[in-house]
Amino acid sequence: MIEVLRSPSEMKNFRKTLKGSVGFVPTMGALHAGHESLMKRAAQECDNVILSIFVNPTQFNDPKDLEKYPKTWEADLEMAKRNGVKAIFFPRYEDMYPDNYKYKVIENDFSKILDGVDRPGHFDGVLTVVMKLFQIVSPDKAYFGEKDFQQLTLIKGMVEAYFLDLKIIPVPTMREQDGLAMSSRNVRLTAEQRALAPWIYKALTQSKTAQEAASLLSEKGFNVDYVTDLQGRRFAAARLGEVRLIDNVQI
Ligand code: PAF
Repeated sequence: MIEVLRSPSEMKNFRKTLKGSVGFVPTMGALHAGHESLMKRAAQECDNVILSIFVNPTQFNDPKDLEKYPKTWEADLEMAKRNGVKAIFFPRYEDMYPDNYKYKVIENDFSKILDGVDRPGHFDGVLTVVMKLFQIVSPDKAYFGEKDFQQLTLIKGMVEAYFLDLKIIPVPTMREQDGLAMSSRNVRLTAEQRALAPWIYKALTQSKTAQEAASLLSEKGFNVDYVTDLQGRRFAAARLGEVRLIDNVQI
């Protein structure tokens, strides 16, 4: 039996009943094989797996993106059951933000580059909600995909800065056969855009320089936000129509 818990107090009470270690997979739902790999890893390493599903409004700087974020509750529930998840924390906005977002976790350095340039406030929203989730779920380990590498790095930094008693586990990006990084936003691509989308990965891995990768993506019809080499990785964000895709690889 899988428990579905809606309020922070219900979640906290349930957490107290669990014996052994807790692995936590925070998500915004619309689960795909990438999320499944996080759940599987958590199940291998921990006695209990808790999943959260919360489309966090404070991290969306574009209201259209928030509105169009896919919601697939039934399929998400099935995936969670298949992977031995003990409980899903599925709060409402009022549950998560009783303060109406007056209190925030803000990072003032790494969050201001890459995605932070085109998405002002995005990482404040991510860090704040993840901090709240960590306080509610009290996991021993939390699992994050390397596809959102900037997010992963910032969350690791927050855990250190606030002396949080948990371990962040990075999990490699899951890709479609043609190389496209799995993302909940991929379902919003038209057939034509979907055929072009794998060029992000190809450009990142096959170009000699970031500049060359950016030019290649522009030629293919992407609106490129950035391609940047940083700390041994190459990062890209580019838009096809209204859908913004991000990816990164080790170089
Ligand atoms: O990566 C995500 O799905 C979200 O940014 C997260 C970590 C669940 C916070 O809302």
